[in-house]
Amino acid sequence: MNFIIAPSILSANFLDVSNELKKIEKFPNSWVHLDIMDGSFVPVITFGSPFVKSIRKGSLNIFDVHLMVTSPEKQVPFFADAGANYITFHIESTNNPLDLIKVIKNLGIKAGLTLKPSTPISSIEAFLPNVDLVLVMSVEPGASGQKFIEKALGRVNYIKKLKEKEHFNLLISVDGGINEKNAEEVIKAGADILVMGSYFFCNPFKDVENFIVSLRNKNTPLK
Ligand code: DX5
Ligand code: ZN
Repeated sequence: MNFIIAPSILSANFLDVSNELKKIEKFPNSWVHLDIMDGSFVPVITFGSPFVKSIRKGSLNIFDVHLMVTSPEKQVPFFADAGANYITFHIESTNNPLDLIKVIKNLGIKAGLTLKPSTPISSIEAFLPNVDLVLVMSVEPGASGQKFIEKALGRVNYIKKLKEKEHFNLLISVDGGINEKNAEEVIKAGADILVMGSYFFCNPFKDVENFIVSLRNKNTPLK
């Protein structure tokens, strides 16, 4: 099976970020997922663009920024400067998604769109021709370590079918509660990218590595 893993640095050991980044780099087809929470769009504050800029020097991977903030348009220039390669924002966080997509792309960065599990999928459909990535949230944004919401599988498959039908040039990423029990079905539903927080960082590295390698060695299923 062909997929990208995007471990979320939020679940990493911040005392040892440099080595945590190296762990991610050991995997072919890996990105670094960066969860930016502002204490307003979601209750918790995580870290900001200065932190991202600093750790950017410690990794060769693509930096996949997931903005969970109330004014994403204010933050985009800072994360662009920090070295983001993808910037994904929430449809619920702006009144002008198309303008923001254009701003991100004009900075030479790939643009992603995401939505909360409770937001209708129809809210993002009009923008699919314009984005490089759709992030399907499979937990409520705001924390790592939550249980995977099964309904996300149907949403992933819906986007996948639409993408094929309309020839959209976008990647489908899935974020929240992904582990060794559900990763395969997430890929079968149509995911190109698996965001992994607690599963990746809170299990023995050898076990995670063995699991990812075994999944990659499986035959590509019909989606
Ligand atoms: C949730 C974040 C996720 C989360 C993933 O708001 O967007 O990226 O940290 O962590 P796990 O894999 O533990 O659900
Ligand atoms: Zn995320």
